[in-house]
Amino acid sequence: MKNDLEFDMEMAREYDKGIRRALPTYDALFRMVQSFLRAHVKDTANVLIVGAGGGNEFVKFGTANPTWTFAGVDTSEAMLEVALQKAKNEGVHERVSIHTGKIEQMQFNEKFDGATCLLVLHFIETMEEKRSLLRTVKELLQPGSPFVLVTMYGDQSKSEFDERMNLWKSIWLDLTNLTKEDVEEMEKSVRGLSFISAIEIEELLEQTGFERIATFFSTTLFGGWIAHTSK
Ligand SMILES: C[S@@+](CC[C@H](N)C(=O)[O-])C[C@H]1O[C@@H](n2cnc3c(N)ncnc32)[C@H](O)[C@@H]1O
Repeated sequence: MKNDLEFDMEMAREYDKGIRRALPTYDALFRMVQSFLRAHVKDTANVLIVGAGGGNEFVKFGTANPTWTFAGVDTSEAMLEVALQKAKNEGVHERVSIHTGKIEQMQFNEKFDGATCLLVLHFIETMEEKRSLLRTVKELLQPGSPFVLVTMYGDQSKSEFDERMNLWKSIWLDLTNLTKEDVEEMEKSVRGLSFISAIEIEELLEQTGFERIATFFSTTLFGGWIAHTSK
């Protein structure tokens, strides 16, 4: 994964390798997200994928659930290009529509049966923008729909955060040939992202119309929440 965390073509091509180093439980995470969605959507679900770049939601959920359709939104054209190519390679592209831009700017004629926002929220700078993103997702969902949010999280002033960061760096050192100095540089980039605490994430979900909120996942700097829109 590149240090400047820009989702350009170089990052898009390297994404699949990089993400499994940054988040070693990435594939297990996707299996859990799929089980949650399957338990709560109808067979012919139309699923909104916020931050669909890279295409892994299309491919993983699309191949295992042949009656689902997907609308994927992402700000990065390069990441969406890779996503579409991957969807074509796996034969799921006919059930996928892609939309370039911020989710808040999207107009859809239909309401979705479920949504995911995986590994996006820490790129959204302010609390107000994060709130606006989540509110938009809520408005785009049918009442009672499942939603999965996975993001880097934590209070950087706490020693608990430092311990998780240390483990994150140790994993990079174990899995790659990067030097300690390289990993320290990456830490600087990551610390520049927009972290909020687990409590703030749960408050944001509540404020934007989600209920039945529960933590289901945590690995180093990353955490995951499941929720439903109110009925
Ligand atoms: C780390 S990738 C995650 C991709 C995929 N969800 C996954 O889990 O593998 C984050 C993606 O979020 C996208 N992104 C960042 N800000 C966004 C926004 N405001 N709206 C939609 N996508 C955004 C980036 O372009 C990038 O493709």
